[in-house]
Amino acid sequence: MTQPGYDALADLYAEMFPDPYQYPVERHAAAAFAEVAAGRPGRTVDVGCGLGHVAADLAGRGLDVIGLDPSAEMLGHARRLHPGLRFVDGDASLATLPDGPIAAILARFSLIHVEPTEVVAAVRTWSRRITPGTPVLVAFQSVDDPGPPLPFDHAVAPAWRWHPDEFARVLADAGLAESWRIVYRDKDYRFPMAQLLAVRS
Ligand SMILES: C[S@@+](CC[C@H](N)C(=O)[O-])C[C@H]1O[C@@H](n2cnc3c(N)ncnc32)[C@H](O)[C@@H]1O
Repeated sequence: MTQPGYDALADLYAEMFPDPYQYPVERHAAAAFAEVAAGRPGRTVDVGCGLGHVAADLAGRGLDVIGLDPSAEMLGHARRLHPGLRFVDGDASLATLPDGPIAAILARFSLIHVEPTEVVAAVRTWSRRITPGTPVLVAFQSVDDPGPPLPFDHAVAPAWRWHPDEFARVLADAGLAESWRIVYRDKDYRFPMAQLLAVRS
């Protein structure tokens, strides 16, 4: 598995984003996710874990976390920065995720790089692999006007941004009911962003 854009820019990315969260609300969303996931049997899967910072934060909150990422270079940084955690070459399909119960899944700004029809397929796979009550947190660049996902000129790799209703519908169709969502903005960033927590029915 490869992720050419992130492989080429991983060093720069690591320099530019030394912290797990760019905005305080993201830390609060992760903390709320961790509270729901706490005590559930199995591992929390960080899909598209990148540098592993968020996986490490969640591990610090008591979760047993495994990170998956298709970029060898991003995984290299994650393993160097967080040697106590497990990081595996893999992608949103979870095809390489070792067997075992899944306590929770999060995918922050990684499904944006998955072609929308493949997002639908991936989320269905997740739903089959988790049990009722399992929380799933997704974060993504968003759009204000309802409609299908829109491609955008991401600096690193092909990407799509989603209206939260559209993402919630894809999750609901796969048996994942929305629990809450946050839409947030920054004056220096061109798009709204969203965090959406859904729970397997
Ligand atoms: C913007 S970074 C986000 C990293 C991390 N989740 C975070 O919140 O800091 C996007 C990550 O998604 C990964 N990615 C790209 N394509 C992917 C796919 N098909 N499945 C899972 N992750 C993917 C990239 O390699 C990259 O590490």
